[in-house]
Amino acid sequence: MDIVTIDGPTSSGKNSVGFLLAQKLGYQYIDSGSIYRAGCIFILRKQIPLEIKEKIVEQFMNLQIEVKVSNQSMRFLANGEDVTDHLHDGDVTKIVPIVAAIRQVREATRLIQQKLAQSKNIVMTGRDIGSEIFPNAKFKFFLTADVEIRANRRFKQLVQKDPAVKYEDVLKDMQERDQQDSEREVSPMRVPKDAIVIDNSNLTVEQTVEQILKQIYAQS
Ligand code: C5P
Repeated sequence: MDIVTIDGPTSSGKNSVGFLLAQKLGYQYIDSGSIYRAGCIFILRKQIPLEIKEKIVEQFMNLQIEVKVSNQSMRFLANGEDVTDHLHDGDVTKIVPIVAAIRQVREATRLIQQKLAQSKNIVMTGRDIGSEIFPNAKFKFFLTADVEIRANRRFKQLVQKDPAVKYEDVLKDMQERDQQDSEREVSPMRVPKDAIVIDNSNLTVEQTVEQILKQIYAQS
């Protein structure tokens, strides 16, 4: 099975790029951040304190994930329930980097990721996909963009839901999350050594996908 990995920081365009790229290639798209987020939805619902690591890990060991595409959008099912519309809730976003830094959570999630890729060609996005999860993937990319540009992209999404959101707060949160993801002890975000780096600060999603496709065809 062919695997295309796309790693990169938050709001680097990974998800839109991954989704469109998968459509063009006829591959299944999987956003690994959604797996961590789905587990966090159950942790919050069950009110499990973040200090009780065993209980947190247990949620991930029992997590059943299915990904479906319906009407041009990706639906994410966790333990049989469609959780797509809650993946980006504020309370989930707040705890996900803390939960994702737990070694056994990452091990459980690795198994889920590898199982999802067993029988299909996939495009998977995340932070450590090309480095840790699929080190032998055929095509590896790392997407990035200036932090101000990424914060502005996220701000534009958030302000539609809540007009009181401030750009400065979004920027500060993003800088904090970048730091948490790249300085954590377990599987920190890194550019995989054989990945092609694309800075898409001044590129649209379509232009970024075009660049990736060019590289894939050149290497095929
Ligand atoms: O990509 P997204 O912003 O949805 O990811 C949410 C969080 O999940 C990240 O901030 C990171 O802490 C964690 N994550 C991770 N490894 C991945 C994907 C996401 O640690 N492969």
